[in-house]
Amino acid sequence: MRLTRQGGALLLLLPALASAGCPFGFDGADSAQNLLAEPVARRAALDVEAVRSLDIDAVKDDLKKLFRNSQDFWPADFGHYGPLMVRLAWHCTGSYRLSDGRGGCDGARQRFDPERSWDDNTNLDKARSLLWPIKAKYGKALTWGDLIVLAGTTAIEDMGGPVLGVCLGRIDDADGTDSLPLGPSKEQEAVAPCETQGSCQSPLGSTTIGLIYVNPEGPHGEPDPVRSAPQVRDSFARMGMNDAETVALVGGGHAFGKAHGACPTGPGPAPKDQPLDPWPGTCGAGPMKGKGDNTFTSGFEGPWTTNPTQWDNEYFKLLVDHEWESYISPGGHNQWRPVRKANGEELDAASNPSVMMLTTDVSLTKDPGFLKWVKIYAENQTALDEAFSHAWYKLMTRDVGPHSRCLGSQVPPPQPFQAPLPPPLKPLPDYKKVARDIARALNAPSKALPADTVGGKPYYGALFVHLAFQCAANYRQTDYSGGCNGARIRLAPQKDWPLNRGADSILKVLTPVRAAYPTLSYADLIVLAGGVALEEAGADHIAFVGGRSDAPSDEAPLPFQPPREFDDKILEARDNMQVMGLTAREWVALAGRPRSPSQQKRLGYSGSWTADPSVLDNSYFKVLLGHQWEAASSDAGQDEFRAAGADGVWMTPRDLAIRSDPEMMAIAQEFAADAKAFHASFVAAWSRLMAADRFDLDLPAVKGAEALQVAGSGDDGVTRHVADV
Ligand SMILES: *[C@@H]1O[C@H](CO)[C@@H](O)[C@H](O)[C@H]1NC(C)=O
Repeated sequence: MRLTRQGGALLLLLPALASAGCPFGFDGADSAQNLLAEPVARRAALDVEAVRSLDIDAVKDDLKKLFRNSQDFWPADFGHYGPLMVRLAWHCTGSYRLSDGRGGCDGARQRFDPERSWDDNTNLDKARSLLWPIKAKYGKALTWGDLIVLAGTTAIEDMGGPVLGVCLGRIDDADGTDSLPLGPSKEQEAVAPCETQGSCQSPLGSTTIGLIYVNPEGPHGEPDPVRSAPQVRDSFARMGMNDAETVALVGGGHAFGKAHGACPTGPGPAPKDQPLDPWPGTCGAGPMKGKGDNTFTSGFEGPWTTNPTQWDNEYFKLLVDHEWESYISPGGHNQWRPVRKANGEELDAASNPSVMMLTTDVSLTKDPGFLKWVKIYAENQTALDEAFSHAWYKLMTRDVGPHSRCLGSQVPPPQPFQAPLPPPLKPLPDYKKVARDIARALNAPSKALPADTVGGKPYYGALFVHLAFQCAANYRQTDYSGGCNGARIRLAPQKDWPLNRGADSILKVLTPVRAAYPTLSYADLIVLAGGVALEEAGADHIAFVGGRSDAPSDEAPLPFQPPREFDDKILEARDNMQVMGLTAREWVALAGRPRSPSQQKRLGYSGSWTADPSVLDNSYFKVLLGHQWEAASSDAGQDEFRAAGADGVWMTPRDLAIRSDPEMMAIAQEFAADAKAFHASFVAAWSRLMAADRFDLDLPAVKGAEALQVAGSGDDGVTRHVADV
């Protein structure tokens, strides 16, 4: 347990949280603030106009020429690089996970450790080398992320497969920082430890760190297809795929190419160990050592179908038409071969297809939920074409965010996984009038919810701020999902998250305002109410950009989970901050927002740090730094902190984390001493958070710190700021 001393005199008392040992940090040298860096600022790096003007067909033509031009440094299997490119794109995108939106090909971090050295990415360095001339030719118009996805998708098309289209707009990262939580790394051990490699649980996306999904040989290498099936289902579900999609992807992907495992001695050192000549191969001798027939990639050996550069549903037919037996591959792994026809007929030389399956492939026939789809795809090529093209597009695009983020001329219509919103109702309301009505509601008693009391009068401002914050704070920069647009805080699952308790009642206080404006969305109302309240409390110029719309109330619940909680609250702050894409400065500034005592009680705490939530100033930081804090537990069982010697002054463990993280602490000290600095940082952070999800504005990469300029642009629906009211 580490104690934090402040100025010698103040002692931070730590709570005795169950099981955690040390809730505010690590016992060893690695503390959370060192582990989880500020998120990578990614948006500025994209030249949107260049991407928009890319001639996609020209790139596709170049790719198709490249696929058929086998090169000596890495000879193409069957004379076609298509299958290699399908694998490249799959393994770039397939690291995505729904739990926190991390992973995926946006950022193209497959080029960096840890991803580049994953076992599942063996020899993909060669695929990227093959693509380099095309990357060089198109420059900024074609990012690595887009090129990899375009290469895989064009390969499918070139081999006769069905393709829905392509969404461009991935932004390349400068390093692998944002993939450190995927592991293996100290960051991953901190935020997503895996107790038993091979049985890793969510939030990790796969059962095995270093693999995209599961061990294809079977659970912990056992060729047990019955036990493999639930692992396959679980790991695909963590990436947002259902049974129909999972079976289409596995069998559709394995329509192409072969597995490589020519000998038992493996591929040689990974890039992290031998960056100049990674995975040189250990099979064979002479100039073809480690290449062509001597390639070792996964350790399995052979193709899944008899025509591995041609799209078809043979994979599914082979699975249902044969009985399969396991055997040991030349690479020393368990894999499967056909032993007789499913109807009992023996195979002879002519009828025995020279193909293999993995335990995970065979598992699809051992589970009724999967087998249903195997049979459908075996019988109906059209059904497979439809399912595969949609599932592939989802796999490629899942981490890119809403449809409005997709660039290029070959973008398909919005898909369900992109959680499309209806267009805003027109004409947009007069937001200045709305703001005036909201200002009146600040002090008007409402039956929907008791107000806070300030100076003996009812005051709803801090509750409006709370609602707007909660509505927007589920934004994830990791996959550009969430945010207040859509007002999904009204809907399951968000409305049922414990941290949103009471939000529905606050919205009811505001609902009468909406009655006068038939085209006013809940989303705009919520954000504007937060802004009006903050300006009333003393903030300058809160930017407001109207034009949000509401997700329909019968929308299928989105599979998002609430921000993750950790016993270690520094880690929690750092993890949430990374996922939201906030800097430490923004995080700390936002913590100084007015906090309603009545709402804090509704959330289970004993109260707030202030009895006057009607003022936005730097007193939060003065209170945080000016007291000794004693760990306590509220009547509702929430861990909290009581200010020693002060009556009714409470902070949450998340507040105290700001005092325990030295970088955040320094920012808090600056704000405590400089009210102007706090005001400026707060307004910027609030505006950025409220605009973070506004990809619909089509203002390229301008979201964020520049939100104030956005508000001033005079576009339809944009008011300068509510201070004008
Ligand atoms: C094959 O699948 C397609 C697409 O799902 C469907 O429209 C068609 O009816 C199916 N054909 C048969 C014979 O079931």
